[in-house]
Amino acid sequence: MLFFIDTANIEEIRESSTWGIIDGVTTNPSLIAKEGKNLVDVIKEITGLIDGPISAEVQEGSAEQMVEEAFGYARIHPNITIKVPMTFEGIKATKVLSGYNIKTNVTLVFSVAQALMAAKAGATFVSPFMGRLDDATGTDTAGYELLEDIRVAFDNFGYETMIIAASIRHTEHVKQAALAGSDVATIPFKVLKQMIEHPLTTKGLQIFRDAAKK
Ligand code: G3P
Repeated sequence: MLFFIDTANIEEIRESSTWGIIDGVTTNPSLIAKEGKNLVDVIKEITGLIDGPISAEVQEGSAEQMVEEAFGYARIHPNITIKVPMTFEGIKATKVLSGYNIKTNVTLVFSVAQALMAAKAGATFVSPFMGRLDDATGTDTAGYELLEDIRVAFDNFGYETMIIAASIRHTEHVKQAALAGSDVATIPFKVLKQMIEHPLTTKGLQIFRDAAKK
């Protein structure tokens, strides 16, 4: 399972990169806006920190506009992955970009039908949003079930499109993503830090520290 960090914050990427377990980065317009920087500067900086897929999202528009914008980002570094919205124009753009061997990540996916459209277009990645689906349905399993269903649908036909569990809000989502067979989880920094913690680990460490003093 690959771990991507879901952030545009350079300090978070820098710190997590030192752990040696981060395989890629996903950004989106909201995350970039939060940093108050422009997308090109941010992704250039990230390429120096993480050697793996780095998602840069194009603005929603016509397929031609999105492909044009995508070419600009793809020229920056071979690791750049173009995040494309789940629209017909996005599907057309994904098909064109896959013909140029440019990696794509179709985002804002909330159904198996949408995921299949992305896979048919040759998307490298598809991003089902767990947290937003759970919020919208008032459950804590809708995101999980969607990931499980997409896994089955892709495996039925041997689609190589990788599933990124996105919109992760807590460590339980990471567990669900793993159990559902997601290829990737893109995880916010805060949740990555929570993943190392368990009260019994903390307690056990204290017991060992006390014992070592004796
Ligand atoms: O990167 C896309 C996704 O992870 C966004 O998450 O928390 O805005 O639903 P969120």
